[in-house]
Amino acid sequence: MICKSEDVREGGDGVRFTVTRVTGEEPAFLVRFQGRVHAYLNRCAHVPVELDWLPGKFFDDSRLYVICATHGATYEPETGYCVSGPCRGARLEPLRVVERDGGVYLDE
Ligand code: FES
Repeated sequence: MICKSEDVREGGDGVRFTVTRVTGEEPAFLVRFQGRVHAYLNRCAHVPVELDWLPGKFFDDSRLYVICATHGATYEPETGYCVSGPCRGARLEPLRVVERDGGVYLDE
C-alpha cells in the first residue's frame, strides 16, 4: 500500500512515494482530483527535477493544476498533460494506481 485513502484529500497535499526502476528508486507522487487518485513520477517534463515546492505541495493556488515549482509548468492532474510553461504539450509519466479497501496501491 502506498497510503491510506484518507491521506490523500481532494485538492490537498499529495503523497510522495518511490517506485523501483532499472535506474534505481525514482520519486513519485499521487494527488486526488475530482474524486480520483492520479499518480506520476515526480519529474518535470521540462528539466528532470521534482515538482513540489514543499514536500507534498503539488497543486497551484487554483487547486486545478499541478505546478512545477522550478519554472511554473502546469499540468492537468487527471492526465499529466502540460497546459502551460516551458514544456507545454509534454506529459508527466503516469503510474497506474488503484484504490480499494481504504488504501491506494501501485498497480504494476
Ligand atoms: S523544471 Fe519544471 S518547469 Fe522547468
